[in-house]
Amino acid sequence: MTSTAAAPARRGQNHGHELDRVGKPPPLAMVVFGASGDLTARKLLPALAALGEHGALPDEFAVVGVARTEWGDDDFRRVAAGAAGDHSSRWRKLVDNFRYVAGEYGHPDTFDRLKSVLDDLDDKVGTSGNRLYYLATIPDLFGVVAEALAHHGCNKPGAGGTFARLVVEKPYGDDLESAQVLDRQLHKAFEESQIYRIDHYMGKETVQNVLALRFANSVFEPVWNRRYVDNVQITVAEELGVEHRGGFYERAGALRDIVQNHVMQVLALTLMEPPALMDAQGIRDEKVKLLRAVVVPEVEAVTTMAVRGQYGAGTVGGQGVPAYRDEQDVAPDSTTETYVAMKLAVENWRWAGVPVYVRTGKRLPKRATEVALEFQRVPHLAFGQRLARELHANSIFVRIQPDEGVRLVFGAKVPGEEFRLRSVGMDFSYAQAFPGSTADAYERLLHDAMIGDPTLFIRTDEVAQAWTIVDPILDAWAEDGSPLTRYAAGTWGPHEADLLLARDLREWHDP
Ligand code: BG6
Repeated sequence: MTSTAAAPARRGQNHGHELDRVGKPPPLAMVVFGASGDLTARKLLPALAALGEHGALPDEFAVVGVARTEWGDDDFRRVAAGAAGDHSSRWRKLVDNFRYVAGEYGHPDTFDRLKSVLDDLDDKVGTSGNRLYYLATIPDLFGVVAEALAHHGCNKPGAGGTFARLVVEKPYGDDLESAQVLDRQLHKAFEESQIYRIDHYMGKETVQNVLALRFANSVFEPVWNRRYVDNVQITVAEELGVEHRGGFYERAGALRDIVQNHVMQVLALTLMEPPALMDAQGIRDEKVKLLRAVVVPEVEAVTTMAVRGQYGAGTVGGQGVPAYRDEQDVAPDSTTETYVAMKLAVENWRWAGVPVYVRTGKRLPKRATEVALEFQRVPHLAFGQRLARELHANSIFVRIQPDEGVRLVFGAKVPGEEFRLRSVGMDFSYAQAFPGSTADAYERLLHDAMIGDPTLFIRTDEVAQAWTIVDPILDAWAEDGSPLTRYAAGTWGPHEADLLLARDLREWHDP
């Protein structure tokens, strides 16, 4: 975080792209496993192209694509070139160095050929023995690829190099046990310090801004605790359905796909203690400490603290959309959840007694990720209830996406003779305060992996703790412990999710 953390403060003065001003990584070769797949085309290559365009890649840089698809170097270069706009001369120049290795991931020959391509790049392009391996294959292959890399000596830098790092995509296991099996496989091949587990939410500028808001200001932190906060709400809402990922999603569901990772990361940053130092260890230690304080639900209690839902047909953005069960590659009697709402408790000095409500869902009315802190009401309202009907609790909303910003809601007197009160908002908009384009999450994270800054990556103990919280809920649902509820696409989720809060005399803040 050291080099990148300073960027937001400077961005306001200069209306460029923030990565125009960050340091270049050293020479390196990046190897992408799963190079002909969706993630590479949709996220990795565009992020690399943006980095290249902004001069944030070294001249001695190359990508080696590895996949089963029978492509040659030129096919891969064509796809890579297409990831940037027409005027991207810097990127096109880099793409000429790119190489492709077609082969089975379990086959030694694939890795022999990869090794000689890497040696060749060191010679011809000057990649200097530095390696960044990126696992973008199906998760079942993560361990296989890591072991094969180690077997071929690729877990260490090549001649003259200083690093070999392994970036691992989510999902990181299906539950605690499988995550631990994967960890053991990876640790046989790579040291923990070489492993960079990606959660792209950590690369979002506004997720990091939670830290700035809390720990760089003296007005917020004093009230950021059980003495003043009534409840915390985290919403990760998506307008999209499962698109063409039905096959994957059937096995995952919203709890594994979003809650175990993205929601837990946002929750940890929102509720953790201030670290002494904003570095990789400081931040990650505090996140784990916080996740350890989240009460692990009892399987029997899951019905009362969690709601799972699945979307039916409905209307989103004025368009009719099908039910989840009618999506491609989804079983007609599927019980996979596309919506989760939970009430969590955090048992530590700061948060004891403050409920933390979280929810995520596909096919909700809009795409919006938001953290809301609702404060306690004043102890005595001297104005009389009639005049304060439109007065809500004070709240802070951190809008993570889209329309990034922070909103503070407080009460004001409505002009006129009566002393009527109403809630009003004070808004900070990222786009207005800092014009210029912001780096995409993958740009930020790839750059951090290249310069060797692990701050925004997920450590093994964080992954394990997040699974520990989620596992009993998976178990309860696998045993059919609580009913699958329904909601129409384009609504804010099942009625049961509203009841979860209504029981506590509270309501969701819909973004
Ligand atoms: C991914 C999930 O991790 O995050 C997807 O697998 C989801 O299902 C996506 O759509 C959401 O990311 P973002 O950045 O659009 O909020």
